[in-house]
Amino acid sequence: MAMIAAKCPRYEVTVVDVNAERIGAWQTDALPIYEPGLLEVLKQARGRNLFFSTDVASAIDKAEIIFVSVNTPTKTFGEGAGKAPDLQYWEKTARTIVEASRGNKVVVEKSTLPVRTAHAMERILNSNRKGIRFEVLSNPEFLAEGTAMRDLELPDRVLIGSHQTPEGIAARDALVEIYANWVPREQIITSNVWSAELSKLASNAFLAQRISSINSISALCEKTAADVSEVSRAIGLDSRIGSRFLNASVGFGGSCFRKDILNLVYLCETSGLPEIARYWQGVIAINEHQKTRFVHTIVSAMFDTIADKRIALLGFAFKKDTGDTRDSPAIAVARKLLEEQAVVVVSDPKALANARLDLAGAPAGRLLFEEDPLQAVRGAHALAILTEWDIYRTLDFRSIFEAMEKPAFIFDGRNILDHKALYAIGFNVYPIGKPPLTHL
Ligand code: UDX
Repeated sequence: MAMIAAKCPRYEVTVVDVNAERIGAWQTDALPIYEPGLLEVLKQARGRNLFFSTDVASAIDKAEIIFVSVNTPTKTFGEGAGKAPDLQYWEKTARTIVEASRGNKVVVEKSTLPVRTAHAMERILNSNRKGIRFEVLSNPEFLAEGTAMRDLELPDRVLIGSHQTPEGIAARDALVEIYANWVPREQIITSNVWSAELSKLASNAFLAQRISSINSISALCEKTAADVSEVSRAIGLDSRIGSRFLNASVGFGGSCFRKDILNLVYLCETSGLPEIARYWQGVIAINEHQKTRFVHTIVSAMFDTIADKRIALLGFAFKKDTGDTRDSPAIAVARKLLEEQAVVVVSDPKALANARLDLAGAPAGRLLFEEDPLQAVRGAHALAILTEWDIYRTLDFRSIFEAMEKPAFIFDGRNILDHKALYAIGFNVYPIGKPPLTHL
């Protein structure tokens, strides 16, 4: 909304939320989320044509177009638990919109939703007895965290799904006009509502599938002395495949990939397509396996026991340049290390507050938090890189080696360090998908 407001001074944008604390924070310079460049864009529009409010009803009533961006977590109860999306927040929002509206409106699905949600929402919205007509559009968001502002300013494409009726097409065109303020028209593509909804799930499934594919190859590399970076480079130079999103890692995380694939799996299952469901489930299975494998490598390299050994985790966010830890592979890795009775020191420049919540309930004294990586590694038997933060590339590994217990181990879950140089310093180095370099 900040980008729309900054690029379209003629439009008035009001962001509403029931959480007063968050709405308050959006009006300060201490934003509720960390995203590079967001504050600068926000400041261009805040107070001019971008406003924040907790008066949800009045903002709904005044608006011609309503973007709904409520969360759709995976259901934890009842039918479809663990797979299907929990649509209760969406449905409550639809009912709030009906109650607060006195005129026709366009409602835009911004949240990632399973196919046919727009249809269900339309039924709720249009069941009103006030004679109001709602037109529902699907406009999935493809931005990635950490690069959100660039992704919004220069998107590969903007996708808008609508009904192919005259009203649907008129609503779609109104939304196209907004994006056309800064996105070239040929990159604003339109489709039917269901294609738009499915395209979002399928895009994320394809992206996650690439990571699970290269991670599956990383496991084989470790058994055969092939080097996954060399394999990845050779594969990626095929222009049909392309080089991006082929970095082997400790596993993918984030709020989208797992949830969206689970949605896809559930959709396939409930559509009578169990083989297709199993195919996509495999992408998640490899991701879980990659995290388990990483911990297994740590335990077996450290003489089959890490009990009471201090292990520093450098990075807890699911990727660099964000404080977001949702579904971060670091959560699973930390928990497994704690199960092995290690002493785990978590370090991250932006994600420690979330990490504390994610690991709440860990045995007292076994879990420590230390923002400064140099403090985190002091007296550690091993350090593991779990997030590819740039600051970790240039740490003084000579002093780190001195400060650690010997033999000192490095497990590079993101393949960002200079493994040969670390080996020369004296470390035993375990990358992902490459032969380890050890003095043992
Ligand atoms: C993703 C999609 O990219 C975006 O289009 C969609 O709108 C939301 O979901 P995001 O979750 O913010 O965005 O991050 P992304 O950059 O896709 O990374 C997801 C995970 O994959 C991270 O944990 C990242 O570290 C991991 N990853 C990514 C790899 O392990 N290897 C890679 O080569 C790329």
